[in-house]
Amino acid sequence: MANITRKIGLSLGADICWPICYEELLKQLNLKLPIDGDMISFESSRVEIEPFDLRKQCNYDVVIDRLTHWYHISREWIKTEILVNDLYVFNNPWSLQSMEKQTTYAAMMRLGFPVPDTWMIPPKRYEESGDLRPTLSRYAKLFDLGAIGDRIGYPLYMKPYDGGAWVGVTGIHNQQELLNAYESSGTRVMNLQKGVEPNDAFVRCVGLGPQFRMVNYDPGAPLHDRYCMDHDFLPDDQAKQMRDMTMVINAFFGWDFNSCEGLRQEGVWYPIDFANACPDSQVTSLHYHFPWLIKANLRWSIFCAATNRTMKTNLNWQSYFDIADQDIPFEEKVAAYVDLARDHFNVDEFESFCAEHLSQLDEVANEFFASDTVHNAIRDKVSALYPDDEIESFVELFWDRIQTWRQVEGAGVVSRISS
Ligand SMILES: Nc1ncnc2c1ncn2[C@@H]1O[C@H](COP(=O)(O)OP(=O)(O)O)[C@@H](O)[C@H]1O
Ligand SMILES: [Mg+2]
Repeated sequence: MANITRKIGLSLGADICWPICYEELLKQLNLKLPIDGDMISFESSRVEIEPFDLRKQCNYDVVIDRLTHWYHISREWIKTEILVNDLYVFNNPWSLQSMEKQTTYAAMMRLGFPVPDTWMIPPKRYEESGDLRPTLSRYAKLFDLGAIGDRIGYPLYMKPYDGGAWVGVTGIHNQQELLNAYESSGTRVMNLQKGVEPNDAFVRCVGLGPQFRMVNYDPGAPLHDRYCMDHDFLPDDQAKQMRDMTMVINAFFGWDFNSCEGLRQEGVWYPIDFANACPDSQVTSLHYHFPWLIKANLRWSIFCAATNRTMKTNLNWQSYFDIADQDIPFEEKVAAYVDLARDHFNVDEFESFCAEHLSQLDEVANEFFASDTVHNAIRDKVSALYPDDEIESFVELFWDRIQTWRQVEGAGVVSRISS
């Protein structure tokens, strides 16, 4: 029997709180798992940004990545390690690089999900370049923006095709507002999307591997109150719709960690924003839900490292399209997509693994989230974001919410993996 240490790398940016908790809990778990005749233990460390030789041996088995979408050096290092050394990474960097919001709308429309009517429009302005004038004068068609707006219907949303963090998103109620918004949209390429309004619920479903957390989301609230504290608030069939949709999206694009925003209108969940493959992980926004995230992250990364999970560099879209093209009811298509997604995430194997090897996690985590380490991690994060005179009150607010989580869910009373 060999003693093997699997190494998990954290590729981090401005993250402060969640890595501290992840690292400390991993240490406290002190796992030694008998797997295939070996004794496997786990170690985590932070990935550093440095020059690299493309032929160098990789130091990690799994990397949890938070940088790919904006640090090109980290992205290229990760892609190189996957290609050369079979590294497993959350998330697939190729699909993250190329699947913007617009692409995800198109793909999920093809699968039949109720993405609201969406158009793409040419940008109002272009960066100057040598062949810009001839290209535009030959090929850019004049178009009637007002007529497109009327066709979609109001209210509608104008938003960058590759957007995030609410930047450049405008709610539009009539033709004049549409023309004004376009006028000031500059060089950004925009989508116009029919507003799902009125709606009676806004849910952000966070997926980490095959684990899903439904969060009631209040977009009008201040940042620290946007994630509401209720849990298990949706009837089972509604929760299943959101969970299935998020799981299919994440498997389809090869994203281990992503969130899907859905708005409910007359009982139907309309997905409006589901290319968020680096979701907010900070205690200052997640608060009550933060321990769920840390535990879910540990389970999935330990599973991937322990089982030497293979990175699926090629996505199997045709299998999904073959189902989409069948003449069967949409519910049957979704069930078939979910089967593919469950295969992708090895759900049965993962759940047995957690039952066999990680049953102590609930108890260890429940104790950990009452510790000074967590209190200090919250303080570090709050101090980085809030003005001096608000630090104390916000540290206590987030701490209290985590203590509420301990009372309600921490002991594993609500220990289902899926929510
Ligand atoms: N089709 C839509 N119907 C209703 N509200 C929308 C729609 N699209 C966007 N919004 C509103 O605008 C916000 C930001 O848009 P979103 O697509 O989520 O962009 P971002 O990627 O910047 O979060 C959403 O949280 C929601 O409140
Ligand atoms: Mg959004």
